[in-house]
Amino acid sequence: MTHSNLALCRIINVKLSATRQSDSTKTAKSEIKTVKVQIKQSQSIDLKTDCRLVVLKQVKKLSSQQAELNRATGGLLDRLQGAEQFEGKLGQIVTIPVPAGIPAQNLVLVGAGEQRKLSTEQVRNLLDKVAKKLKVAQIDEAHCDLDALAEKSDTATVARHLVEAIGDQRYQYVKRPKAARDAKAGKTFRLTFLCEDRKSAAAARAGGLAGVAIDNGKTLAKNLGNMPGNVCTPSYLAAQAKKLVKSHKLKTKVLSEKDMQELGMGSLLSVSRGSKQPAKLIVMEYFGAKDKKQAPHALVGKGLTFDSGGISLKPGAKMDEMKYDMCGAASVFGAMVAVAELQLPINVVGVVPSSENMPDAIATKPGDVVTSMSGQTIEILNTDAEGRLILCDALTYTHRFKPATVIDIATLTGAVIVALGHQTAGLMGNDQALVDDILSAGETSLDHAWQLPLKETYTKQLKSDYADLANIGGPTAGTITAGAFLSCFTEKLRWAHLDIAGTAWGGAAGKRASGRAVPILTQYLIDRAAD
Ligand code: BES
Ligand code: MN
Ligand code: ZN
Repeated sequence: MTHSNLALCRIINVKLSATRQSDSTKTAKSEIKTVKVQIKQSQSIDLKTDCRLVVLKQVKKLSSQQAELNRATGGLLDRLQGAEQFEGKLGQIVTIPVPAGIPAQNLVLVGAGEQRKLSTEQVRNLLDKVAKKLKVAQIDEAHCDLDALAEKSDTATVARHLVEAIGDQRYQYVKRPKAARDAKAGKTFRLTFLCEDRKSAAAARAGGLAGVAIDNGKTLAKNLGNMPGNVCTPSYLAAQAKKLVKSHKLKTKVLSEKDMQELGMGSLLSVSRGSKQPAKLIVMEYFGAKDKKQAPHALVGKGLTFDSGGISLKPGAKMDEMKYDMCGAASVFGAMVAVAELQLPINVVGVVPSSENMPDAIATKPGDVVTSMSGQTIEILNTDAEGRLILCDALTYTHRFKPATVIDIATLTGAVIVALGHQTAGLMGNDQALVDDILSAGETSLDHAWQLPLKETYTKQLKSDYADLANIGGPTAGTITAGAFLSCFTEKLRWAHLDIAGTAWGGAAGKRASGRAVPILTQYLIDRAAD
């Protein structure tokens, strides 16, 4: 078992014994549950179920349970192998409806192959395939033996990624005012892990619960991201944050434009100037540590609910996609939900500067100079480089929480898509240990990030004749100069910046929010809870 999975088992099991709950499903509370997890310490083939999912390495080498299944079904596995329909090769999946001899409606056989070890990525690819099959077969419930796969990875990882895979497959944007909706949207999938012994049951429970919490967080992030810009405004995000007070016991505060004015947030307010929608600064606090005063980990998310570019207007093509420009904020909402559901023993504060960026007669113009909350003046040479303008004041504000670490998450630059595609987020920071922790969380969660060099030489590109800083750094290294701009506001913090412009939506999935960076942020915080 990996270090972080061991820690997760410890955290979850402490929590379960403290609350004396034997049924893992009772601990996860959320309105938006896509998957519900249960653990059973039995692998009997006599279970009545909609679907029995069995992972096996090779039909030639069956475990005792699998041999029993083979007998009960009158040698089904042998026959499948004889007919070259299923040998247990990695990635092979067959679904057998109403199999004879066992009380399952469907039997799904999954091949894990002969390789001794599989990478987490290979495990996840296989589980994504399984989840797709379950969706196509319209299956809403499954009992799974995962031992053959767990041997090649570990039980907690397999359980967690299966939950996430099913969650991703079943996600549907339910708020859309479209007539034809999938009837299954919003229906919870019931997943039961069948475990051999107490140890694997504990690991499956820990991994399953982490999967459910992350999936719930992702679902919230996807819903907010997919929502149209005329619905999901800064005020709407603020109202959602207030809902989390009751549902997830967060402490929420919303600052108005007047409050921000008093704090001197001239940079943030320069972005909302051209919009009818008032900007909001949303603060959500989660207290899980024994000591309420323990330094929190801060997450700061860009909540630009629509980015037209402002006076530096964007071209028309694909401008609709700029409704996703609040996906950094959405990942902060999602991670806060996940952390609260896992009841992690740490403190976390989420800070979301939220605004629209619109052209208007009183909108900020290229060449305007504004004063940020830090006192540094900024020459706005391009009103489309607005994300950094709202984030810098939010980062200055975050100092008041005396945070242990600060991560900002933003759909900040188109350049990061050119460099890393839709697969990998750009990562920079002023503290290598923090950056390394985030990279490692990316590996575990498969929500990958890649470090870019944040060197002083890039900060020089932000020189201005009229202010302390310009808000753009010229045509080269756009992602890094954006990070360099933010670094001028975080010198006293242990800080890192994730550019998720490529990973938050799009790519092979099309125009859909992905729920990223909820997995990497939640994993980072799970790991901090285990430090
Ligand atoms: N929200 C955009 C970044 C973006 C662009 C995300 C395309 C996803 C797809 C950001 O506010 C922006 O406009 N950035 C500019 C910066 C430039 C003016 C220095 C960009 O990347 O073009
Ligand atoms: Mn922009
Ligand atoms: Zn933007």
